[in-house]
Amino acid sequence: MKIPTLDHVDVKGKRVLLRVDFNVPLEHGKVGDTSRITAALPTIQELQKKGAKIIILSHLGRPKNSHNTAYSLKPVAVALHHFLGTPVEFSPETVGPKAQALVDVLKPGHVLLLENVRFHEGEEKNDPHFAKKLAELGDIYVNDAFSVSHRAHASVEGITHYLPSYAGRLVEKELQTLNKHLHHPERPLMAILGGAKISTKLVLLKSLLEKVDLMAIGGGMAGTFLYARGYEVGKSLCEPSMKLEALDVLKEAKKRGIEVILPVDVVVATDSNGGVPYETVSIDHIGPDQMILDAGPKTVERILDMIDTAKTLVWNGPLGRVEVDPFDRGTTAIAKHIGARTQAGKLSSISGGGDTAAILNQAGCFNEFTYVSMAGGAFLEWLEGHPLPGIEALKAKHYSA
Ligand code: 3PG
Repeated sequence: MKIPTLDHVDVKGKRVLLRVDFNVPLEHGKVGDTSRITAALPTIQELQKKGAKIIILSHLGRPKNSHNTAYSLKPVAVALHHFLGTPVEFSPETVGPKAQALVDVLKPGHVLLLENVRFHEGEEKNDPHFAKKLAELGDIYVNDAFSVSHRAHASVEGITHYLPSYAGRLVEKELQTLNKHLHHPERPLMAILGGAKISTKLVLLKSLLEKVDLMAIGGGMAGTFLYARGYEVGKSLCEPSMKLEALDVLKEAKKRGIEVILPVDVVVATDSNGGVPYETVSIDHIGPDQMILDAGPKTVERILDMIDTAKTLVWNGPLGRVEVDPFDRGTTAIAKHIGARTQAGKLSSISGGGDTAAILNQAGCFNEFTYVSMAGGAFLEWLEGHPLPGIEALKAKHYSA
């Protein structure tokens, strides 16, 4: 079903409540990674150009329903002003008389950022009263926060019952890209799945088995797969209780004719924090006090070869303990290869979920991928095939005047 977008509404002179995801890292009171701010700029600038009065809603962190200055959006107003080059007013209230007064004097093209919506209990409870209070500040609602659209919260879902609601450009782009490359992919479609635990990725693994032709599994999760296959994995991350599920995944892949790469060699050490000797061993030589910290060179080579046969690729999760040098080498080599294949026009590459965007930044190839989703949990839920309440609400067109 088509989603109403900014193409379907005249925003001139209107108060537009724009939900973005400014859930950004703060370092010493300043915004660290600004990717989520720059990602929101196209919609904000379009609304400015069209003469809307822009009232921005966002959450930051998980402040547990109370006003906690550590989670204030004030530093984000400073960063947003820097990128927009135009003034950004900040309201220390999310709703209430002070917020209302600032909205009342807002001029077309001007921007007001309201304080963290999660300072209010009603946000995460999707309380209709809170949603209504938010809605009273605007004439139109725009959701440009795909990355929080998996949350049925008041500023994401509830508010759509009280205002005509539209998707912003980032939501539009995210949905178009994911649909194009992952629902109608050019095949072969390959998935690379890393991360710590199979228990948190099982639904995703099963859903990917219905879509992909090729798969590479790495990261901490690979420890459980190797254990399930009867290998000694020493002190590696491993979930013995998931043995049968891991074997089921491999059986299902075989049944479907999906080629799966698991590590054949690994980089191991006795301490995951580095600073101790490390070595590369084949998977049948992991010592009892050793732990898997990265994919070995033979495994990486196999994955690179598989990438060369793929036309579309989706990637979630690191293949090693990337925070610690040198255990980022496998992940970095693979990221660079995907970037190069994409730039050569041989591959469409989509990545997202968890820390994957940060990993690509670290590897210096963020801009070489076809698309890096800003979303963490929402990207994974979308991949798992779950409807996202924030997106469903836009389709449902709850509001009628
Ligand atoms: C994210 O960072 O994935 C989004 O901002 C959602 O945050 P949440 O997991 O705290 O709801």
